[in-house]
Amino acid sequence: MAAFQLPRFMEYCQRRYGDRFTVRMGSMGTFVYLADPDDIRAVFRGGGAVFHAGEANAPFLARVLGPSSVLCTDEEVHARQRRHLSGPFHGGSIAGLAPLMAEVAAEEVRSWPVGRAFAVLPHMRRVTLDVILRTVIGVSAQETDRATELRRTLAALVDIDLLNMAPFLFPALTKVWPWSRYEAVQERADRLVRAEIERCRDDPGLGERPDVLAMLVRQSATSAMTADEMRDQLLTLLLAGHETTASGLAWTFERLVRHPEALERAQQAAREADTEYLDALVTESLRVRPVVPDITRRLVADVTLGEGDRALRLPAGINVDPAIYLVMRSPRSYPDPLAFRPERFLGKRPDPAVWLPFGGGDRRCLGAAFALTEMRVVLATVLTRVELATTTTKGERARVRTVTLVPHRGARLTVRRRLAPTLPPAAAASTPSTAVS
Ligand code: HEM
Repeated sequence: MAAFQLPRFMEYCQRRYGDRFTVRMGSMGTFVYLADPDDIRAVFRGGGAVFHAGEANAPFLARVLGPSSVLCTDEEVHARQRRHLSGPFHGGSIAGLAPLMAEVAAEEVRSWPVGRAFAVLPHMRRVTLDVILRTVIGVSAQETDRATELRRTLAALVDIDLLNMAPFLFPALTKVWPWSRYEAVQERADRLVRAEIERCRDDPGLGERPDVLAMLVRQSATSAMTADEMRDQLLTLLLAGHETTASGLAWTFERLVRHPEALERAQQAAREADTEYLDALVTESLRVRPVVPDITRRLVADVTLGEGDRALRLPAGINVDPAIYLVMRSPRSYPDPLAFRPERFLGKRPDPAVWLPFGGGDRRCLGAAFALTEMRVVLATVLTRVELATTTTKGERARVRTVTLVPHRGARLTVRRRLAPTLPPAAAASTPSTAVS
């Protein structure tokens, strides 16, 4: 939904109409935005039988991810899919991936120029894409041809700007240039992922493989998951799992180079493997620069939010939109909310009522622990290898890309000098405490 509900528009509506406002989007439906944490908690507690996320996501995401993507299904089907996918995304499994995350990031930093400004976002995308490819389908960067082709295709698939979104409203456009180009990318992605499924089925080492694909193929004997369904889940994890985390990392660097004290502290924390400060840094960055501005649920029954004077009756068929961007940047949730202060979260777990970068309820992001670990490990790896220059230039604006908000200039940085590399062992060892809400 991010393309149509730019943060500024949301802020304007909140100023004008308050914490509940309605946006009517013609054939796409009616969206009631919620910026009051109590309303949002009621939506998350309301459960997946009444609040359908899949039905709300499908008109936008099914075309890219496939109709059986875990993001596009509801109720029993969704619960079953989440069970099948969740294995590799809990704390224990993720901690084991930290050395891989550090290795990929260290390799990427080697190519960064010294003394010349560059956008860090594309570099972060390369890191997160390599990590997710390895985690989800077991393809490593060394397997050059397969990795290159998959990388190129997935990068093109996720490159959905406002122009690319037009066929969501007018499907006939997919046959017409320039939109037909996107259709060709989708076909290539489909072919590549299916080939990986086939390759995995024939792999004599299937039993030992730790990647998600191998796990799904092993489960398929009992789970009755079809190849189409498997393809949709793999594409979902590959796309949801890299663009978001890369944007979160880019924003963290964008904020750090404008806050010399925080940068110095982060560099020291990276050197000393002080995971507490690094986690506070990530927590604050995702709060003040949320990557996903809002999430949507479609009501399948009439619902009343709030009580007494505040009771709001909503009919079945309408969409509710927890505006996580507004809640996390509200003075009612945080003092001086637009200031970047990692120390807010030192020695404190974030309050799940007002810290919502990963959504909530039974649809909370499946990859939250993975993303938080990856952000911490990548930051620590970068900050122990290069010294970044601070800047007094104005902060970058949020630009919509796919379903995420990215810094509009790609988070421009300058490396002042290279440092003798050290790998912080503790940064690579555990899962952040913010991983579970
Ligand atoms: C900083 C990085 C990330 C952010 C900010 C983020 C944010 C989100 C948000 C807001 C949702 C919707 C939650 C809701 O509707 O309540 C979501 C869902 C999801 N995310 Fe993430 N995400 C990130 C990283 C990841 C990663 C690394 C993966 C996979 C490895 C992942 C996989 C998913 C999946 C599968 C869902 C659908 C869950 C469901 O519908 O049951 N995400 N994410």
